[in-house]
Amino acid sequence: MMKDGRTVMLAVDHGYFQGPTTGLENPRKTITPLLPYADSLALTRGVLRTSVDPSQKIPIILRVSGGTSILKELSDEVVTTSIEEALRLNASAVALSVFVGSEHEKQTLANLAELVNEGERYGMPVMAITAVGREMARDARYLGLACRIAAELGASIVKTYYCEDFQKVVEGCPVPVVIAGGKKLPEREALQLAFDAVSEGAVGVDMGRNIFQSSNPVGMIRAIRAVVHDGKGVDEAMRLFGEKQPAKQIAR
Ligand code: 5RP
Repeated sequence: MMKDGRTVMLAVDHGYFQGPTTGLENPRKTITPLLPYADSLALTRGVLRTSVDPSQKIPIILRVSGGTSILKELSDEVVTTSIEEALRLNASAVALSVFVGSEHEKQTLANLAELVNEGERYGMPVMAITAVGREMARDARYLGLACRIAAELGASIVKTYYCEDFQKVVEGCPVPVVIAGGKKLPEREALQLAFDAVSEGAVGVDMGRNIFQSSNPVGMIRAIRAVVHDGKGVDEAMRLFGEKQPAKQIAR
């Protein structure tokens, strides 16, 4: 989180269940030019070790749940990475998915509770991600339920999806909420999504595909920053998206 209480997290953890996701076939190539513009980087230890130079100062949100693939039941996740490993890798927080209402709901909520217990021993915050099973509606009632449960179990921050009446989701969740971007949208729609989410109470985004699958990923993350951190509207952000990129780096 930055001083303004807002955040632009860059999510590049999709491979943990999707394999070589479009745009992340070569993670280093995708991630490197985006690093100066991200407040933190959400990824697995495998990609962190292989694709991010240890000299990079970017805060790491380490994905620690998995064990499933798109070929099987996604909710059957376990915790794959220990707190000690997260500490060794200098992670700023750990993240895992919960699947409220799915086949393995209880297992994933127990994963969260146990991870919070472990994390508390070292002051390691936990981000819960409300994964939505195929059979679930992405509405305020469902997402509000999932976010609130995650917060009650001790998550320090919750990542969820934007939906109609999103402010109800935020109001019912006593910890900060960020949104995932979801599948690739036209850039204007993705910027509108980020604008609506922060206008309705999200502290920012943990966005992946709408940045790294864009025709201009650096332009897109700069445009997202303008919306999240600078209160810019979609038209102005679109102008930034189209601009030629300056070479200078954002100081962290
Ligand atoms: C996968 C994730 C992704 O990081 C999350 O969905 C954010 O990425 P995108 O903006 O591409 O949806 O948590 O479980």
